[in-house]
Amino acid sequence: MTRWCVTGAGGQLGTHLLELLDSADVVALTRAELDITDAAAVDSAIADARPDVVVNAAAYTAVDAAEEAEADAFAVNETGPRLLAESLARHGGRLLHVSTDYVFAGDATEPYEPDAPVGPKTVYGRSKLAGEQAALAALPACHVVRTAWVYGGPGPNFVDTMIGLEQSRDTLTVVDDQIGSPTWVRDLAAALVALGTSSAAPGVLHFVNAGQASWCDLAREVFRLVGADPERIQPVPSSQFPRPAPRPAWSVLSTTSWTNQDLPPPRHWRAALEAALATKAR
Ligand SMILES: NC(=O)c1ccc[n+]([C@@H]2O[C@H](COP(=O)([O-])OP(=O)(O)OC[C@H]3O[C@@H](n4cnc5c(N)ncnc54)[C@H](OP(=O)(O)O)[C@@H]3O)[C@@H](O)[C@H]2O)c1
Repeated sequence: MTRWCVTGAGGQLGTHLLELLDSADVVALTRAELDITDAAAVDSAIADARPDVVVNAAAYTAVDAAEEAEADAFAVNETGPRLLAESLARHGGRLLHVSTDYVFAGDATEPYEPDAPVGPKTVYGRSKLAGEQAALAALPACHVVRTAWVYGGPGPNFVDTMIGLEQSRDTLTVVDDQIGSPTWVRDLAAALVALGTSSAAPGVLHFVNAGQASWCDLAREVFRLVGADPERIQPVPSSQFPRPAPRPAWSVLSTTSWTNQDLPPPRHWRAALEAALATKAR
C-alpha cells in the first residue's frame, strides 16, 4: 500500500487528488495545516507522515499578482519545493512536484519537449522554474510534472467562467492568438497517481490533455457542449486584454516523454472536456 501526502490539498489539483486517493492512505495538508515555506513545519510533517510519495500541489498561482509580489511567489514556488525535497532526501520518499508551461518563453511553434530551452517571461514562470531546479538539486530522484491550462475547479477557472458567462451574456469576445493544451484537473490528478506508483525514471515530464486549442476554441467547445451557439463567441487578439503578466502565445506541451515511460496516454482535450461537463451535470 502506497502512503501518500498531498500539500496544497485545498487547491484545484489537491482537491481532485484527494477524490482519487483512498483517504486511509493519504495525509492531506491544506495551507492552514502546512505552510510549505516553513522549514521546521515541513520537516516535522514529513517525519510524522513518513509518506512513500508526496505530491506538491501547493503553489503561488496568481500570475498577475506575482509581478508585484516576487518574494511571495519565490517563497512558495521555489523555497517550498526545495524544503520538501530536502526533507524527503533526509527521511526517504518520492516527490512529485507540479510545474507549468510558463517556464517556457511561449514563442515556439512545435509542442515543447521537457528538454526544450526554458525562458520564462513572468515572475510566476521564473519562480516555478527556480522551484523545479531547487527540487531536482535537493532530490535528484524527484519527478517534475509540467502541465498547462488546468480547469475543473473548485475555485475560478476558465471553463467554469465560460459556463457562467453563457448564462449572463449574449455575446463574448475571447482571445484566439494564445494556443495551449487544455487539461482537465481530474485527468492530471489521475496521471499523477499513476506516476506515483510507476517505475518511471526521475526528471521532468509533461502531462496535458492531447491536442491543442486557442482560448476561443475552448470557450466555443464549452458553449457547444452546454447546448449554446458557439458563434456567440467572437475571437479577438490578446492585445484587447492587456495583463500585468504577459501570457504565452504558445503553451502546447508534448507528452511523448510521458508515454515513453509507459504511463497511460492522455486523452484528447475535447473528450476530457466532455467528461468534465458530464460530471458537473450529474
Ligand atoms: N491552474 C493552471 O492552469 C495551472 C497551469 C499549469 C501549472 N499549474 C500548476 O499546477 C499546480 C496546482 O495548481 P492549482 O490549479 O491546483 O492551483 P490552486 O488552485 O491555486 O492551488 C494551490 C494551492 O496551494 C496553496 N498554497 C499557497 N501557498 C501555500 C503555502 N505557502 N503552503 C501551502 N499551500 C499553499 C493555496 O492555498 P490558498 O488558496 O489558501 O492560497 C492553494 O490551495 C501548481 O503547481 C501550479 O503552478 C496550474
